[in-house]
Amino acid sequence: MSPLVAPSILAADFANLQSEVEMLNSSEADYIHVDIMDGVFVPNISFGIPVTEAIHRFARKPLDVHLMIVNPDNYLEAFRNAGAEIISVHYEACTHLHRTLQAIHNLGVKAGVAINPHTPVELLSDVIQDIDMVCVMSVNPGFGGQKFIENTYSKVSRLKDLILAKGADTKIEIDGGVNLQNSPKLIASGADVLVAGSFVFSSSEPVQTIRLLKGIGMV
Ligand code: DX5
Ligand code: ZN
Repeated sequence: MSPLVAPSILAADFANLQSEVEMLNSSEADYIHVDIMDGVFVPNISFGIPVTEAIHRFARKPLDVHLMIVNPDNYLEAFRNAGAEIISVHYEACTHLHRTLQAIHNLGVKAGVAINPHTPVELLSDVIQDIDMVCVMSVNPGFGGQKFIENTYSKVSRLKDLILAKGADTKIEIDGGVNLQNSPKLIASGADVLVAGSFVFSSSEPVQTIRLLKGIGMV
């Protein structure tokens, strides 16, 4: 099965955001992954609501918004209004995760949960049926261009088993250090969505790179 591909706009040229979004529009990308960092949950600041709105103004692909922020509940509606179709919050940032998932669904958007590399997938067991997508972090969140953590494969397999055992309809997204080397094994382990930032935007032919990622699993 061909994976869904979600290029991360974090690795784009921010001085040419419109043309970067138009490049993604012209590609086979399935989503645009939008990384929001607050300098508190993660040791970096990216951008916020006005920039997300600006991306949405030109995007013809759904926005997959990854909130790496504390107190995400305070900003769910603002990101929905800015154009998010999927909003992912971090497990580690939510004291009342079930309530947060309900709040996202009540806004009429899909609900994702991102988990840090140290967070076991089993902690999602009792909410998996309420999650549209689990974002498995394959690097420590905060920066693009980091090295892929190999333990991710076994996490993805265990998460896939959990989803099947619970009869849930949850997609598995992989975020961080994704490239053409690790993607086939990620797909074989159960991944559905590949986020790729630097691998796409630092390539000389981003549209072609996205096509190659889409081609994985098409044998
Ligand atoms: C990391 C972000 C990722 C990042 C991925 O904190 O959540 O989405 O942009 O970038 P690459 O593919 O360069 O690791
Ligand atoms: Zn991300």
